[in-house]
Formats: sequence, structure tokens, C-alpha cells
Amino acid sequence: MTKRALITGITGQDGALLAEILLAKGYEVHGMRLYSAVPDAGRIESIDGLNLHYGDMTDGGNITRLLDTIQPDEIYNLAAMSHVHVSFAVPEAAANINALGPLRILEAMRTIGATENQIRFYQASSSEMFGRSPAPQNEMTNFEPCSPYGTAKLYAYWMTRNYREAYGLYAANGILFNHESPLRGEEFVTRKITKAICEIEAGLRDKISLGNLDSKRDWGHAKDYMEGIWQILQAPEADDYVLATGEAHSVRDFVEVAFSYIGTEIIWEGDGINEVGRDKITGNILIDIKSEFFRPKEVNYLLGDATKAREKLGWSPSYSFEGLVEDMMRADRVVKSRIELQSKIRAV
Ligand code: GDD
Repeated sequence: MTKRALITGITGQDGALLAEILLAKGYEVHGMRLYSAVPDAGRIESIDGLNLHYGDMTDGGNITRLLDTIQPDEIYNLAAMSHVHVSFAVPEAAANINALGPLRILEAMRTIGATENQIRFYQASSSEMFGRSPAPQNEMTNFEPCSPYGTAKLYAYWMTRNYREAYGLYAANGILFNHESPLRGEEFVTRKITKAICEIEAGLRDKISLGNLDSKRDWGHAKDYMEGIWQILQAPEADDYVLATGEAHSVRDFVEVAFSYIGTEIIWEGDGINEVGRDKITGNILIDIKSEFFRPKEVNYLLGDATKAREKLGWSPSYSFEGLVEDMMRADRVVKSRIELQSKIRAV
């Protein structure tokens, strides 16, 4: 029988990649999208066979009706206010969407009478919940969130566990470390860097302004992680899993590896807010530091230990760090070539 999946946050990087994976597996895929006055469906426009529904994580009635109409076998809750830095500016909205949103889905599951295993619920929990807990972090590590985003995600993590234990619902958490791809939003540091480097190469800008260069993240490829979250929901018993590569790199490393893709070596000079990164050959400043990109409170070091997912689900990432950077750089260079071609055509 064809399985039916509902993905909230379908227009995001993860939603678009997961939709493609599920369609390829033969699922009927439903996506919940937020109404937006400006076009926001670029990532899913080319995907055939999606069933789209307007929905809102702050509207419990809407969520209940959607579940009742769609009758999904699996729900992947990927909708979120996903930018950690911005969550300091909109903490109530972050709580409403990221903490109460998943609760509304869990309540809707109860309301429509979902019994054990009838609907499988996946909650997109985050490594940001570990905050300042020492690395490496796994399912047994204490949570010490450092942002409104991480704190709201932690509430949803516990509610997912509570509903599993109190009502016997199939409700699982994936605690995902940072996962990137060419579809990553430009406000996140990896895509900000790869896109800007390609623009520098094309002569469209001179430099990139960044914040904390020494913060370390465990960056994996979102394609690997979306396959992993599908595996989480196929396990016979609902459980919580960390997905991570087990390798951490600093923002500075990411900059160096991404620039090396276009043959540029970076030399660092100065300290703190006065640090700059120069092109070793030309001496031009390619990176500078701006205080506006620092957070009120920073998570300095995230490094995941995905032993449980490897042993229980057989999951492991296929992309290396260098492979991830290369994939993102290659994609942004194609866009850059298109811009160059368009300007040549205009010039003729
Ligand atoms: N965004 C951004 N912009 N981050 C910068 C910049 C900059 O100019 N300069 C340095 N950074 C540092 C941030 O301070 C942070 O330490 C690191 O780069 C990564 O920032 P983001 O790419 O914005 O991601 P994040 O780690 O805060 O959050 C992402 O990963 C979480 C999982 O751990 C998001 O995808 C979250 O939604 C996700 O839960």
C-alpha cells in the first residue's frame, strides 16, 4: 500500500530534499507551507507530484484539520523559525513556532485518535539544544541551550518524549547537527560563504563580512541527514537519535577550504574584530569581521557522536567535509556562470 507522508516546512532546504527522497521511495507526499506574500517556493517548484497545503504551526485548528484530511502514515515536522541569531530578536515567535508548534501536532494526533504506530511523528530536534555542553555530544549528553531557538527546540524534544511515554504515540526525535547543501538559505554561514566567494570570483563583490570565525560545527550534507530521518521513522520502536559526522571544523576552516576550491589561499592577519583574511597572492582583503554577526550568546563547539544511529539504524553519512564544500561551491559557481552569461548576452 502507498504510504502517505506529511512534511511541514516543505519549502525549506530539508523539506525539499526529504520530499524528493520520499517521492523516489514511492510515497504520496503532502507538504504544509506557510502563506507568504513573496515567492518562497523556489526549492520545490521543480518537484513533480507534491500535494501542497497552506498551514501554520501557530494554528492548532488548521493542523488538526490537515491531519484529519490527509490521514498521513508519517509526519515529518521540519517547520521552524530556524535562524539561531534571529531567534534572539523574536524569542516569542521562536517559542510559538518551535516549541508550541510540535505540541499542536502531537495534540492533533491525539484529537484525531491516532493510536500507537498508526501515525509516526518525527520531530526535528537540534544539536543547538546541547549549547555549552562539552563535546562530543550524544543522546546521553546534558542539554544547555544558549538561545531562544535552542530552548524552544528543547521544549519540543521533551514533549515528543512525553507524548510517546504518556500516550503510546509513535513520536521520535532526530537530534541533527548542522546539515548543509546547495539549497541552504543564504543567511546561514556556509551558504553565505560559498555564494559570496563565487560572487567575488565573478567580480560582483570584493569581500565577505563574517562574525565568529573560531566557532566549530559538525557540518554534514543535508541529503545524508534526510535519508537518516526517514530511517529513524522506520525503526520498529520510536526512539531519539543523534545524526552527525563526528568531525568538527571552524568557520575559519570552512572559509579556507571553500576559497581553495577557486585556487585562492587565505592569509589571516590581526585579532578579534580587526582580523582580516587576505588573498596570499594579491594581498587584497577578502574577509573582514563585523560585530553585527556575533550573537548575544554563542555556542562555540558542536561535535556529534552518532554511534547509536550507526549501530541501531545502520546510518552513516556518505559526504566528507571537503565533499560537502565542493558540492556547494560547484552549485554556486554554476549560478555565477549563468550571471556572467546573462551579462554577456546583454552586452551584445
Ligand atoms: N549565520 C552566520 N553568519 N553565522 C556566522 C557568521 C555569519 O556571518 N559568522 C560566523 N558565524 C558562526 C555563528 O556564530 C555560528 O557559530 C556558526 O557560524 C554557524 O552559524 P549558522 O550557519 O547560522 O548555523 P547555527 O549553527 O547557528 O544553526 C544551524 O544549525 C542548527 C543545528 O545545530 C541552523 O540550521 C539551526 O536551525 C540548526 O538547528
